[in-house]
Amino acid sequence: MATQVDAETLLSEAGEVIAAASDDAALANAKARYLGRDGVLTREMKSLGRLAPAERGPEGKRLNGIKQRLEALVNEREAALSQMRLEQQLAAEAVDVTLPGRGLGSGGLHPITLTIERIEQIFGSIGFDVADGPEIEEDFFNFTALNTPENHPARSMHDTFYVDYGDKRGEDGGLLLRTHTSPMQIRYARSHQPPIRVIAPGRTYRVDSDATHSPMFHQVEGLWIDDAISLTDLKSVYADFLRRFFERDDIELRFRPSYFPFTEPSAEIDMRFGDGPLAGRWLEVSGAGQVHPQVVRNIGLDPERYIGFAFGSGIERLAMLRYGIGDLRLFFDNDLRFLQQFSR
Ligand code: FA5
Ligand code: MG
Repeated sequence: MATQVDAETLLSEAGEVIAAASDDAALANAKARYLGRDGVLTREMKSLGRLAPAERGPEGKRLNGIKQRLEALVNEREAALSQMRLEQQLAAEAVDVTLPGRGLGSGGLHPITLTIERIEQIFGSIGFDVADGPEIEEDFFNFTALNTPENHPARSMHDTFYVDYGDKRGEDGGLLLRTHTSPMQIRYARSHQPPIRVIAPGRTYRVDSDATHSPMFHQVEGLWIDDAISLTDLKSVYADFLRRFFERDDIELRFRPSYFPFTEPSAEIDMRFGDGPLAGRWLEVSGAGQVHPQVVRNIGLDPERYIGFAFGSGIERLAMLRYGIGDLRLFFDNDLRFLQQFSR
């Protein structure tokens, strides 16, 4: 009995099934259907044994021919599927080279940091040392040594955070967040010999908050003590500093009589805005004065021999004037759109 399968019918049917296989699993099924252990062609081959011996040879050859053509169809489809997969992957991972790059964001210094560097550079160039001291300060340095003993009314203008550290509190007045950089006058002058010429920039704290006051702000203390340093020197040094800081000669300054327990006489220094939303308005930039004889004594020097001036300036105020900014709280909102303008 000859086998039943007609080569052309089988190949055209199998060709359709294989061509319709849309992935590897479907192709494996199609292959099994014809060439697998129980596949159509395998069954035909198994039945060869039932043929008359004379027929077996030619029929076997014929079936083998069909098998080879089926295998070729499967291989072709396999190659086509793998090509399709590759194309899909390439399309999915395509890079649009016309898109703008993301860029490397570069950091910049904060405008207050830039201002501090500028101040240090200017005072450094005229021979001032730059000193640094603790923000958590002893009551003694913040007030008492600055001629502001406990219960002195001037303390009420400097409310701040007090740090409770157990038993010690009360013995020596305790610790507090410094309300100004003036304690650095005492700390520095006690450990240096005259002539004493120093600036000390840093953070300070007060119970304050409005367009020109922040609870945390920066001051720079200045101190010059020698045997003949007077208020005239204060005026010329400070005016010269401002001219260099603002890079202009038409600075409008005002020394307004004031009071500090640690200077006598004392003044507030005001400056007039040139540009920006506050153009024409006066802004206080600094307290200043001649170092009080009691303070000279407190730092261990003889007030009959040594005399000098001190100032304590608001660094945010100087930055406001330089950049024409009407509200100093902008410096601390951390809005990058604001801050990036200064870091070019
Ligand atoms: C003082 O703090 C004195 N220690 C200054 C001084 C030093 C006088 C040496 C004499 C000798 P005053 O409280 O005025 O003074 O503050 C000094 C400056 O700090 C002010 O002129 C202002 O520019 C700035 N300032 C004060 N409070 C704030 C605040 N809350 N926010 C931002 N800036 C402030
Ligand atoms: Mg003041």
